Amino acid sequence: MTFLFNSDARRGYIFQQAIAHELPDLSFCMDPASVDADTVRYLLTWTLPDDLRRYRNLEVLFSIGAGIDQFEPARVPDHVKIVRMVEDGITRMMQEYVALGVLALHRNLPAYLSQQRCQVWNALPQVQAAERRIGVLGLGNLGQAVLEGLKPFGFVLSGWSRNQRELEGVACFAGQAGLQAMLSTTDILICLLPLTDETRGLLNADLFKKLPQGAGLVHVGRGPQLVSEDLLAALDSGRLAGAVIDVTDPEPLPARHPFWNHERILLTPHIASVTQPHSAARAVIDNIKRIRAGMDPLGLVDRRRGY
Ligand code: GLV
Repeated sequence: MTFLFNSDARRGYIFQQAIAHELPDLSFCMDPASVDADTVRYLLTWTLPDDLRRYRNLEVLFSIGAGIDQFEPARVPDHVKIVRMVEDGITRMMQEYVALGVLALHRNLPAYLSQQRCQVWNALPQVQAAERRIGVLGLGNLGQAVLEGLKPFGFVLSGWSRNQRELEGVACFAGQAGLQAMLSTTDILICLLPLTDETRGLLNADLFKKLPQGAGLVHVGRGPQLVSEDLLAALDSGRLAGAVIDVTDPEPLPARHPFWNHERILLTPHIASVTQPHSAARAVIDNIKRIRAGMDPLGLVDRRRGY
């Protein structure tokens, strides 16, 4: 029985050691060309190999990342479980990045960077954290962790999800009506939604209009959720004051894209959160143990929902 690791060798060696130690009955392979396809039960990869169907005995397809939108689920046989990466390293990095983005917008960093470039020494009015309302779209594992990470600053916190949640210290909203209600009271909006047919293009002019004048956006979901022209128009009209963007469509962003030089956009190259091999190996091993014990793995994808 084989675990096929289809990603970079640096992280592969760490997985190899951990699996040899904890699941010694599994053989580990990093080379699809040399593996006996019939023995492959577990495949960890970022994108689907073209010849996926040759792994006739595949049971579990693990994504090496938090998202699975890069897979085309229709190409994955129905009986194969698809599992998102849920691991502490990703969670911690996302907490850091969102705190960075929220604080940057809260403390007017884009404006101060522009002032610095023009040698302007000018203090801007500052709102206190207790008066700054932060809204998170998506209350899965990452959304909840991000809210926890923001608590110590004293912001007013709210969150939105498809199904109603209850989280301590967070005003929770759900459904379409809940979305309107949250947006109207959100000064800094964080997008952590998975990419699905429902979330594609969600961050558009219509949504920006529902935010208070001068709101900010931290986008760490997926590039195709954001309508670039609508963001640019909202920034240029002052509807939005600033945006921290880590994901774009396409990636990498083309050379002439207006995001590169926009003074109200802080842009990073999809680095908000990156799978950390030690904690990811731990998470995958725990999931294999769960599956072998007849339980669902953490991060099991519901194919109808799309995440
Ligand atoms: C990165 O975006 C990931 O899915 O891990």
